[in-house]
Amino acid sequence: ISKSILAAGVAAAALLGSNFAASAQEVIKFAHVVAPNTPKGQGADFFKKRAEEILGDKVQIEIYPNSQLFDDDKVLAAILRGDVQFGAPSLAKFGKWTKKLQVYDLPFLFKDMDAVSCFQNGEKGQELLNAMSSKGLTGVGYWHNGLKQLSANKPLRAPEDAAGQKFRIQSSDVIAAQFEAVDAVPQKMAFSETYSALQTGVVDGQENTWSNIYSKKFFEVQDYITESNHGLLDYMVVTSTKWWDGLDPEIRDGLAQAMKEASDYANGLSAELTAEQRQAVIDSGETEILQLSGEEFAKWQTAMKPVWDEFSGDIGQDIIDAAAACN
Ligand code: LMR
Repeated sequence: ISKSILAAGVAAAALLGSNFAASAQEVIKFAHVVAPNTPKGQGADFFKKRAEEILGDKVQIEIYPNSQLFDDDKVLAAILRGDVQFGAPSLAKFGKWTKKLQVYDLPFLFKDMDAVSCFQNGEKGQELLNAMSSKGLTGVGYWHNGLKQLSANKPLRAPEDAAGQKFRIQSSDVIAAQFEAVDAVPQKMAFSETYSALQTGVVDGQENTWSNIYSKKFFEVQDYITESNHGLLDYMVVTSTKWWDGLDPEIRDGLAQAMKEASDYANGLSAELTAEQRQAVIDSGETEILQLSGEEFAKWQTAMKPVWDEFSGDIGQDIIDAAAACN
């Protein structure tokens, strides 16, 4: 054999070898829409750190925050295609895939985040992680963000104040019904488009958590924020059942461990970040925070509560009852 053929053979073998090495490493993409300095952003970064500590070179975890890779209306299909392995859309964004998760959007369902944890950790909440199994999606955990506040350019103290106002909402029929219940005009829109829609007046207001209001600067383009705590914005971390089940068991166990730790971390951090970022919004002086009296709060509750009956058939009364029992 001539030397050059031998050399070519050695080079080809080396290439083959390096390809084998590369394919042995599982590259895992996690896409989300919020800023890194949020409960979900921090949870995702923690998951990367722990998974790479536990599994070493066997995995490479890539986190794509700020809708860099996909908006939430695209991410679940992308997971099924294998373009991305993990996403954590808000529980309001699964309506196309299952009606049961709509429970989380019912206005005034949870009185605080302890009630949310109680439901998520209980039997019905855990069952809901599998609500999309027939569609090929597995829920691997719940992550908290927090309770939602209402913002607008006029003070919203009573439900009548919202009448005729256009609100950007997540893609949830329950949230649409919630705003229609106070004669407001809901407009479904991607999170990534919200700031500019508020700034240019395409919509008058929105509802979101302190963390999202702060990290996406919504407070800079809204004159008033009503501290209404009227609904929940939490997440389900999801992956493709087929991909997850097909993983090398060692990798799957390591990822499951990292996910468990990341869930504990994100859920522990959310209250702290919420308090910190709420205070930062107040300190900015850019917007006025309105507190509701007990009577005013009750009026919003009464106006929005009929939404429960509208969706109880789709959700299941047993699920709603289990959630309400956690208060
Ligand atoms: C929103 O669209 O307002 C939220 O779902 C964004 C998020 O992921 O917190």
